[in-house]
Amino acid sequence: EAWYSPDIDRVILSADDITSKTAEIAKRIDADYADVGGLLMVGLFKGAIMFMADLARAVNIPVEMEFMALSSYGQRATSSGVVRVLKDLDTDIRDRHVLVVEDIVDSGLTLSWLLKYLPSRGPKSVQVASMLRKPKALESSLDVKYVGFDVPDEFVVGYGLDYAERYRELPFVGVLKPSVYGG
Ligand code: PRP
Ligand code: MG
Repeated sequence: EAWYSPDIDRVILSADDITSKTAEIAKRIDADYADVGGLLMVGLFKGAIMFMADLARAVNIPVEMEFMALSSYGQRATSSGVVRVLKDLDTDIRDRHVLVVEDIVDSGLTLSWLLKYLPSRGPKSVQVASMLRKPKALESSLDVKYVGFDVPDEFVVGYGLDYAERYRELPFVGVLKPSVYGG
């Protein structure tokens, strides 16, 4: 039995589900960016690293990879949440085609902040790819061009998503048992 089995209620997306969805998204990206010669992927630490690594290898156009680390203050659920930049971009994104890569859009706070911040750096375009989206994100009217899967409002972990820094390395997305987080 795997070490995580007692903690995971059920698997909702297998590694194969994730691989085939990533290939679909990569095809769309190849088509959408065929004429512009390349893409600058901006991933957010830490959750996005798995999807970033897989998506970068699945597309058939040249990509550069940048990472940012953000931290939000206060209750994440409140829309007045403030976002602080812990690690900024290392490169000038002026006139570049930027694709923000995320593991999940939940309340939309992180993304709505980033989509206000990035345009101030003068990119030619900004789009978003997120492997997962929670129901709340649909209310936020955020424009996420490439979405892998809509997932229910449950505690999901794996494929980059953590609970207290654990489970990020799982190759699938599963629902955490409430007993693990005291729910
Ligand atoms: C998670 C996730 C997204 C964000 C989504 O990151 O990776 O970045 O929350 O939530 P939101 O839509 O409500 O803003 P988190 O800040 O937990 O850090 P991590 O990526 O290091 O796990
Ligand atoms: Mg994150």
